[in-house]
Amino acid sequence: MLTQQIPHATTLSALRTRIKSWRQDGLSVGFVPTMGALHDGHLSLVRLAKAHCDKVVASVFVNPAQFAEGEDFDSYPRSVIDDSAKLALEKCDLVYLPEREAMYPDGFATELVVKGAAQGLESDNRPHFFHGVATVVCKLFNQVRPDVAVFGEKDYQQLQVIRQMVRDLDFGIDIIPAEIVRERDGLAMSSRNAYLSEADRVRAAELNKIIFALATELKAGAVLAEALEAARASAENAFDAVDYLEVRNAQTLARIDSETVNEPARVLATVRLGETRLLDNCAI
Ligand code: PAJ
Repeated sequence: MLTQQIPHATTLSALRTRIKSWRQDGLSVGFVPTMGALHDGHLSLVRLAKAHCDKVVASVFVNPAQFAEGEDFDSYPRSVIDDSAKLALEKCDLVYLPEREAMYPDGFATELVVKGAAQGLESDNRPHFFHGVATVVCKLFNQVRPDVAVFGEKDYQQLQVIRQMVRDLDFGIDIIPAEIVRERDGLAMSSRNAYLSEADRVRAAELNKIIFALATELKAGAVLAEALEAARASAENAFDAVDYLEVRNAQTLARIDSETVNEPARVLATVRLGETRLLDNCAI
């Protein structure tokens, strides 16, 4: 089978030229930012963007600013040729592959500070993370200037941080959430699942079972503190470590003070199997 071709832009001027010609034809533009190693979760975002817009740009850029010293920036899976082939099959219109030196040239000295939804949860373990994400997404938004951008609920806190940033800074971009795409045993798809050994891959499926069971109990009116304590005990038993397992307001991610859950809420969890962090969440 012939590999499908997809136009690439590796420079900002090539990206702008292509988008300008679409804009001259009156076409709308959707954007899907990624770090590559694409799986069906990422591709579902491209499909959703295609359903909302005439043209879709996907970016692949492993953003050094969201990795701390000692994290997996160097070993993060990179597979640009495979990624391009997958995007071509989805009829994505352009893949944007910016160079690190163009994104962060010598003298780059600006960083977005995000608070609100960015506080706690992931930030307790990775304090640098959302500043790095917000800065690169802000820069990519300015480069692409899309009408719509799609983000996965897989990274639920990230989605809320981006929504908050777009609202606070008047980007005028529609942020569309995409549901989590899961493997057959319920494990949320992630580029980092490739790090799991066969035995850990089997154990990993326990996470979605624990959070969905907790959500079901809370929906039925269980006492929050008690149900949460039991779910944390199960997670501690199943995994090498539990970074957090929390129930938060679905929009602000603020703590819930009531005895039972009576507001739109989300279970959010991150656990560790060896060196690998697994993130998952679900609605209540
Ligand atoms: P990355 O981890 O590559 O994810 C890119 C997008 O795909 C994110 O919006 C993420 O939530 C979504 N995604 C990943 N797995 C998914 C799944 N199983 N189901 C649905 N959506 C899924 O998130 C990032 O990259 C970066 O932080 C980025 C936003 C690109 C900034 O560098």
